[in-house]
Amino acid sequence: MDRFLIRGGRPLHGEIQIGGAKNSALKLLVAGLLTSDRVVLDNVPRIDDIGTMRLLLEQHGLTVEEVPGEGPYGQTLSVGGEITNTEAPYEIVSKMRASILVLGPLLARCGEARVSLPGGCAIGTRPVDLHLKGLEALGAEIRLEGGYIDARAPGGLVGARIVLPFASVGATENLLMASTLAVGRTEIVNAAREPEIADLVACLVAMGARIMDQGSGTLVIDGVPRLHGARHAVVSDRIECGTYACAVAIAGGDVRLLGGQIGHLGAVVRVLEEAGIEVAQEEGAIRVRRGGALAGVDVMTEPYPGFPTDMQAQFMALLSVADGASMMTETIFENRFMHVPELNRMGARINVHGASAIIRGVPALSGAQVMATDLRASFSLILAGLAASGETVLSRVYHLDRGYEAVERKLSGCGAVIERIRG
Ligand code: EPZ
Repeated sequence: MDRFLIRGGRPLHGEIQIGGAKNSALKLLVAGLLTSDRVVLDNVPRIDDIGTMRLLLEQHGLTVEEVPGEGPYGQTLSVGGEITNTEAPYEIVSKMRASILVLGPLLARCGEARVSLPGGCAIGTRPVDLHLKGLEALGAEIRLEGGYIDARAPGGLVGARIVLPFASVGATENLLMASTLAVGRTEIVNAAREPEIADLVACLVAMGARIMDQGSGTLVIDGVPRLHGARHAVVSDRIECGTYACAVAIAGGDVRLLGGQIGHLGAVVRVLEEAGIEVAQEEGAIRVRRGGALAGVDVMTEPYPGFPTDMQAQFMALLSVADGASMMTETIFENRFMHVPELNRMGARINVHGASAIIRGVPALSGAQVMATDLRASFSLILAGLAASGETVLSRVYHLDRGYEAVERKLSGCGAVIERIRG
């Protein structure tokens, strides 16, 4: 298993290219199930989860081909073909939860689907009850047996009004895609409002779907008999952008994040500024500069446009070397503090009390051997390593490779000393 070796204490200067959003690209690939025409996606990040999604779609019968392109990062993928298998196996679904999103499109196209229940993951139990209840509202018959979801809609799906008790990103996406081919009108009330949802809506509309975003979290979809191919560029990854902004904040320096869109960062901008970081939108980039000392900030994770849970671990690393005390409250997932013991091994002073963590800023962290536990936690340890004195060795980098492209290249291009030790 690969490891990262990081030598801290160097500020970052220069430019970092922000790639396409993992949490959009994965769903846009799944949307390829909704038509046998080809859907061509530009600005797809070159990350392991995309590879897993390609395997899943190919075992459903689709072909996913890379279209030759240029540029140091990302890729263009063309997905299409006929569905020959409506089962999503445990081996793939248990590796990547986003696999559950094939359920709605398979039901809509084929009237049946057998998808493994994803099971839990490191950050929580992550049930899919809202996905299943919503699909039943659209007329699907759902049975759970042997760890699998058996779904049927022999007569096709029928539009319905669905009110989500929680603005679930995945449930919104599953129901949005399923309803594009349902008969009649579907309303999804209290839908998630993340920029990745808007990106999926834009791609589906380009494919011929009839979707109205009523604003304030209501999506109205009028089903159509079929969708056609389209070409779509994946939206810039706001979480990757926020992550590198935290890198500049903790290491110091002045970096332009190319392709960053400040409007998609939501509450991250306000919180960074409260911590003492300058964040400005420039032409084609977000400029991040660290002026003086870092100030502690109290943060609570919320659905978009609140502070994203996917930025929680990264920001906690930052707060661990800020002046004063801070409180971080995680309201979305029930077990997303596994980076805390690892940060404390580097000299941080963080105490977890239920859903909240109290962070007492320390003057400096010290390098150590640490272990990644999940995607975002792994980057929080890299951030700590950038600020720490001495060397940090991060193991289990496979967690990072699932969702971040070329981290060592992007950071060392701005002056960080970070190298991958292949193992
Ligand atoms: C998506 O997960 C993202 N993953 C997550 O990013 C992100 O943290 C999350 O949205 C919240 O923004 C992808 O897009 C691939 P949810 P998802 O449905 O769709 C509960 C990353 O690091 N819930 O909004 O699974 C659930 O247990 C990943 O890139 C139910 O109870 O998120 C969780 O507590 C991590 N029942 C909360 O809602 C359901 O049916 C948020 O879930 C569905 C969800």
